[in-house]
Amino acid sequence: MRKWCFGLGLAVSAAAAAAQGQVNVICSVQAEWCNMISTVYARTTGTRVNVTMKGSGEALAQLIAEKENPKTDVWFGGTGDPHLQAAEQGLTLEYRSPTLPQLHAWAQQQAKQSNWRTVGIYSGPLGFGYNPELLAKKKLPVPRTWADLLKPEYKGEVQVANPASSGTAYTMIATLVQLMGEEKAFDYLKGLHRNVGSYPRSGTAPIKAVARGETALSISFVHDGPGEKMQGFPVETVTPADGTGAEIGSMSLVKGARNLEAAKKFYEWALSPAAQEMAAAAKSFQLPSNKSAKVDERVPDFRKIRFVDYDYAKYGASAERRRLIARWEKEVNSQPR
Ligand code: G6P
Repeated sequence: MRKWCFGLGLAVSAAAAAAQGQVNVICSVQAEWCNMISTVYARTTGTRVNVTMKGSGEALAQLIAEKENPKTDVWFGGTGDPHLQAAEQGLTLEYRSPTLPQLHAWAQQQAKQSNWRTVGIYSGPLGFGYNPELLAKKKLPVPRTWADLLKPEYKGEVQVANPASSGTAYTMIATLVQLMGEEKAFDYLKGLHRNVGSYPRSGTAPIKAVARGETALSISFVHDGPGEKMQGFPVETVTPADGTGAEIGSMSLVKGARNLEAAKKFYEWALSPAAQEMAAAAKSFQLPSNKSAKVDERVPDFRKIRFVDYDYAKYGASAERRRLIARWEKEVNSQPR
């Protein structure tokens, strides 16, 4: 009897899935959040969500590669700059969501400056992650400013992702350029290079390495700290006193999407307060873009952070992003450490 009920349940949900179709999503946030939205959405709507996880820069590369024959319907999350670049390159679809007025001004601005080809779904500040136990053991202080990270005693102790694949790392370059001016920022990055132990592919790898005691310091989005801490790891975050940047995590519909109607429904759902509150349930603590979404107490308090006036349009422009990453490859990454 039990077996029969189970079989029937499967048959019903398979029929619902067939009726409601499917949506192919590139997901550029943390795995637990990607898994939660796909499971909950499939369960509540009967639409199957096929998720591929990719960092922001890698997601953009995939959309470029698929341009003639898109396999992706929605690109969910990841830093805003490559979403703006995708918009500029005509890879994403113009769509004015009826939900836009419910979003914070920064999320609407992201939509406007892409000519309605992307939208802000969350925001979060860039800062440093540190392992207090490891710092104490090595008798190292907590860094408070960007300049602090250049101290020789941190040699080999800093991790930051590779900007070609990671939006987090590109946000760092754009932040430094806006904070110091481009020449000084590249001098800084060359100095930092001497202290960097490795440049992993994914933006969250460095803070995970810090949490697990593999390295003492990371340059990371500070909202990635609490999730590691909740798993029992010793990790804290700090934002640089001399100023920092923030991402506008974004979402875009792919031009030529095969499942466009299903994609639009998923997109609308992802802008709703209930969907956005799922981030915190999956241990992700960005600030949600829907003004009515509950803000978890672990979300960084933006009022206490000193921000640069980040020019999202300029640093999301294709030519600028490509140029800065190429310059970093040539002048920084190729140097010995
Ligand atoms: C994490 C953060 C997100 C960010 C993303 C960027 O998932 O929680 O806020 O948008 O990293 O990833 P990337 O690998 O492109 O740096």
